[in-house]
Amino acid sequence: MAFKTLDEAELSGKRALVRVDFNVPMEDGRVSDDTRLRAAKPTVDKLRAGGAKVILLAHFDRPKGKVVPSMSLGPIVEPLAKVLGVPVAFAPDCVGAKAREAVNAMRPGDVLLLENVRFHPGEEANDKAFANELAANGDLYVNDAFSAAHRAHASTEGLAHLLPAYAGEQMRLELDALDRALGNPERPVLGIVGGSKVSTKLDLLSHLVTRLDKLAIGGGMANTFLYAQGHDVGASYCEKELAETAREIIRLAGKNNCKLFLPLDVVVAEKMAPGAPARVRDPGSIDDDERILDAGPETVERLCRAMGNSKTLVWNGPLGVFEIPPFDKGTMEAARHAAKLAREGKLVAVAGGGDTVAALNAVGVVDDFTFVSTAGGAFLEWMEGKTLPGVAALLDKRLPR
Ligand code: 3PG
Repeated sequence: MAFKTLDEAELSGKRALVRVDFNVPMEDGRVSDDTRLRAAKPTVDKLRAGGAKVILLAHFDRPKGKVVPSMSLGPIVEPLAKVLGVPVAFAPDCVGAKAREAVNAMRPGDVLLLENVRFHPGEEANDKAFANELAANGDLYVNDAFSAAHRAHASTEGLAHLLPAYAGEQMRLELDALDRALGNPERPVLGIVGGSKVSTKLDLLSHLVTRLDKLAIGGGMANTFLYAQGHDVGASYCEKELAETAREIIRLAGKNNCKLFLPLDVVVAEKMAPGAPARVRDPGSIDDDERILDAGPETVERLCRAMGNSKTLVWNGPLGVFEIPPFDKGTMEAARHAAKLAREGKLVAVAGGGDTVAALNAVGVVDDFTFVSTAGGAFLEWMEGKTLPGVAALLDKRLPR
């Protein structure tokens, strides 16, 4: 994809406004997972090496256009400085006099974090006047927040129209990986979609069956498909009202030559509790008081075989209730196998979406995957085939090739 990249930018002495995604998990006011801070480092390093002044724009949580002190980016400063290995200054506002003073005090190579852009209503409204206020502090704009690119906000979209706009290093990595997974993948391509609800992934499933060669459905949503095929799912979570929709997806898959894998066997228990006694059942023999909580061994074995016969894997959503052992087994085994094939160079394995990353982290295979996206909602929308406004705005500035 032909974006302007930092390799083409004149950086020396320039004020680079960089949109990053620091919407990180926090526990008791402390950053509990610094993945997104680490993801910003390559871009910050590159800008500093080129002699730019690095001004970071980010949101945290959803303050809805008001100053909410508990949603300040202040607590990010220290862990960010640690990750970057340089001091990070902080301005208590992202526009106006306080931001201007902080920017004016910068020297080339300095790093400044501006306060939460969502403290201003103009951010989410993508208000032109607000975007202009942001732009006043920069000579160029770098979007490094793929994970916020599904939002058409002033700092994710509007700014790209006001300043020379570039894709940051993390944005490039994400887009390249996603292109390898679904844009121009090596075939056959296998998809795994898990998670509990069909209702939240209807667009995703309908799009994927038109793009993939094979699609495995797991997690709670597979129950709805089993029910739609006439199986009794006992006390399992199931969106019975979506049975016809599930049958429609099965038909669409057939029409598009996408081979659909539904569970051959399942792990059931009466209680969803750690260590609860679990049994393996055929979909046709589930008792009234039993709940499906994981994919069964035959299902996982067939999935692993399918990975072995594929060149590309794109994965969103766990196969079972992976937070509660022993119902983590299916997801763990499948993840380990994908990681092994990726490590051996036999499979391009790309994964994304909040739960998926947490599951892969729990298994400890994130580094073996070809790429694990830092994005949640943006990854999902991209997998649904939707245009992400933050990415489209950068493409507007596409260079002729
Ligand atoms: C995310 O955490 O997925 C992004 O930062 C987007 O956050 P939002 O859903 O609050 O827009």
